[in-house]
Amino acid sequence: MDNRPIGVFDSGLGGLTGVRELRRRLPHENIVYFGDTGRVPYGSRSPETILQYARQDIAFLLSKDVKCIMAACGTVSSTYPAAEAEKLPVPYLGVVDAAAREAAFSTRNRRIGVIGTAATIRSRSYEALLRRLVPGVEITARPCPLFVPLVEAGYVDHSAPDKQEITKLVIAQYLTEIRDAGVDTLILGCTHYPLIKTMIGEFMGRNVVLVDPAKTAAHHLERILSERGLKADHPAGQAHFYVSDAPDGFVQTADLFLGEYKGGEVEQIAIDK
Ligand code: SIN
Repeated sequence: MDNRPIGVFDSGLGGLTGVRELRRRLPHENIVYFGDTGRVPYGSRSPETILQYARQDIAFLLSKDVKCIMAACGTVSSTYPAAEAEKLPVPYLGVVDAAAREAAFSTRNRRIGVIGTAATIRSRSYEALLRRLVPGVEITARPCPLFVPLVEAGYVDHSAPDKQEITKLVIAQYLTEIRDAGVDTLILGCTHYPLIKTMIGEFMGRNVVLVDPAKTAAHHLERILSERGLKADHPAGQAHFYVSDAPDGFVQTADLFLGEYKGGEVEQIAIDK
């Protein structure tokens, strides 16, 4: 048993999709979340900058004495080197591996779509894994750079209809080619995207399976904690949130999204000091 918190980080709000899933699956765990809202988005930055940010985020979580770290950020997961992750003092988990496995398991026609930030798509991290897992797979991959700013601005599934209309236009612009390719599985390769999953699902059609990377990673993390005897036994797990910009916008969208799992303090920190 280990009552230290689980550490989760993302460039902004997207990692909350992982927090929601962790709170649902592991109600006795405390969670420390860091959202780098002052520097979001990561996905349009160079690999060097992403790596520098990831190292700072991880160092911050380690300073909070976490027992494991989930990089709930597709961009970091596609960029942070496995060799560096292995040297960390606690188990580290990204979102790419589990999502690729889920997509390989789900596809019937071997046509898989991948959407993500420019950095994630450029890294070809999903493609490399999928080609190993699914012989003959046809992959249609596309960066969707406007999705993250839309989500951070609250243009999400549960928002007002006029906001949703704008998001729907962008979805049609980005996803028409992938829909026309006849994919039966679409990897939402950025943890922000599940916040607009309903709208994406409506556009793609109900026969297309949407793979949520934070959900699959949370499932994987649960297994790691069980196997290593690291589960906590708090009567009711708490979440503590840290952000690098003023917390107001974060609190609003986070509450909308976390629903019954909301609650927890939000504190602003200086990540690069
Ligand atoms: C971003 O910061 O650009 C999105 C984070 C992600 O890739 O999940």
